[in-house]
Amino acid sequence: MCGIVGGVAERNIINILIEGLKRLEYRGYDSAGVALINQGQVLRERRVGKVVNLEHAVNEANIEGSLGIAHTRWATHGKPTENNAHPHISGTVAVVHNGIIENYQELKDNLESLGYVFTSQTDTEVVAHLINDALKSTSSLLTAVQQVVPQLKGAYALGIVHTDHPDELITVREGSPLVIGVGIGENFISSDQLALLPITNRFIYLEEGDIARLTRSSIEVFVEGQLVQRPVKELDATVSTVSKGEYKHYMLKEIYEQPEAIQQTISQALNSNALRADFLAEAVADFKSIQQIQIIACGTSYHAGMIAKYWFEQLIDLPCQVEIASEFRYRTPVIVNHTLYICISQSGETADTLAALRDTQQRALAKNLNIVTMTICNVATSSMVRETKHSLLTLAGPEIGVASTKAFTTQLAALMLLVLKIGQVKQSIAVEKMTTIITDLWHTPKVILDTLQQNKDILRLSELFVEKQHCLFLGRGTEFPIALEGALKLKEISYIHAEGYAAGELKHGPLALVDNDMPVVILAPQDDMLDKLKSNMEEVQARGGELFVFADENSGIKGKDRQHVVHIPSISPILAPIVYSIPVQLLSYHVAVLRGTDVDQPRNLAKSVTVE
Ligand code: AGP
Repeated sequence: MCGIVGGVAERNIINILIEGLKRLEYRGYDSAGVALINQGQVLRERRVGKVVNLEHAVNEANIEGSLGIAHTRWATHGKPTENNAHPHISGTVAVVHNGIIENYQELKDNLESLGYVFTSQTDTEVVAHLINDALKSTSSLLTAVQQVVPQLKGAYALGIVHTDHPDELITVREGSPLVIGVGIGENFISSDQLALLPITNRFIYLEEGDIARLTRSSIEVFVEGQLVQRPVKELDATVSTVSKGEYKHYMLKEIYEQPEAIQQTISQALNSNALRADFLAEAVADFKSIQQIQIIACGTSYHAGMIAKYWFEQLIDLPCQVEIASEFRYRTPVIVNHTLYICISQSGETADTLAALRDTQQRALAKNLNIVTMTICNVATSSMVRETKHSLLTLAGPEIGVASTKAFTTQLAALMLLVLKIGQVKQSIAVEKMTTIITDLWHTPKVILDTLQQNKDILRLSELFVEKQHCLFLGRGTEFPIALEGALKLKEISYIHAEGYAAGELKHGPLALVDNDMPVVILAPQDDMLDKLKSNMEEVQARGGELFVFADENSGIKGKDRQHVVHIPSISPILAPIVYSIPVQLLSYHVAVLRGTDVDQPRNLAKSVTVE
């Protein structure tokens, strides 16, 4: 999604803005631009494609300035062209925007009738013209912005500069993330604190509806015209936690970080063989009252939710529904009393999940229903964490690759911790069962480490996928969501069409696709369904399909003609989905690298999907 960086300083900030944009590249974008205020002029450069194109243009034009805004655009209204790239200018006001102005057409019609000429197809340009127009009746940039904001409908974050105000940067947060980076004699804004980590680790997290005025030496935040205080928080993350290090891609680094990430996530909750008393202690009373669970999420996080459904129902006998947020939010679902609504999200900013949460909260309030909300998230400061009553953090560290890897497996670890906690509170899980799962959880990082040792074998398999057009992934039970996840990973980064199926569904349709040219990936842990899965493998082989099997080392499944097998170290069946995520991630990664795609920033996709 779009990314914003801006700053007001004593020094020339062009390199800080460009470096900031590079650090936002992971969000996904198609064009980039920058505007600096210098000696009464707006100096603007915009380019289609990568930030490096913009960097060359900026170097050639040799522009500099100590006040400026910069942007990476992910097209929503209008194609990725230079004219549509931000910043947008009206008179001498320049604006960058993340999000969507829903009523832009109505505003545009009105502005055109006043004589404003539009040079882009974007919704953003209305904001620049509206501020320019408001400046006819006030000399204060802040007042002009405060007059314009109530006219805008939608979700947006804005950065605004003007030639007559060379000492100030105005910013707005309404539904799209925005942080202020606090410096010494300089202040910055960004859509993500990661962009500003080389400059500061002190941040102000703006809240919805905040409008802020930054100068070199001050930060003022206003809500409905009134000055408010927002705390400055210090962040632990350092520049090294967001660099690729020795790895070729962030995705590969993040795959290899999983043993450590899972260790971190479970350590917050576990003693040697029991749950820590302080783990989710504040939620105990709520957990006692709930009678069912509704999970809401998108993409990979939705797959984590699907696995949790098996766990909640099988291990602690608690009914659990899972739904894609973009459907849930629009189908007017019945809000049921005593339900725990769980949002799962790596970023905590996904527009559909956030909207589903807000809608659920409003409807529960209107009907006076007693519901509990919770977020499982990798970003402590995110909107979802702030807007739900309880939260459980996945301590995966920043995930930069668009394809989610360590965020997914830590979500699974966190969800298992939650299942155990609720089971303990409701006394619906035997102590011995809980102790066994906890012992297995502690063992999981080591099993993942051993699974990563199979990387070379998985690389060899991936060579057989390079020319393929299609692929099927099959699994049963909790491996069904892993089949979906494997298919999502492969299509997302290698652009090979892939489908995941519950293996039992094979003869209800997908078997028709199987022929000599169809690779079929099988997920075969040592569980109760193994024999049935072996029958499904026979069905595929009988139709000439080529099998690529990730099988438990004790499964008895061996390699043979058109059956390639990589053995996975044994893990208890209940935790197998965490471990079987690793080979499908590695397979997708290697296939993508061999096909020469942009692994960390696949085409058309964004890391943080802050528009619907
Ligand atoms: C997975 O690899 C994706 N990039 C995508 O499906 C992602 O999981 C989805 O957009 C949800 O994001 P979230 O976890 O930040 O809410």
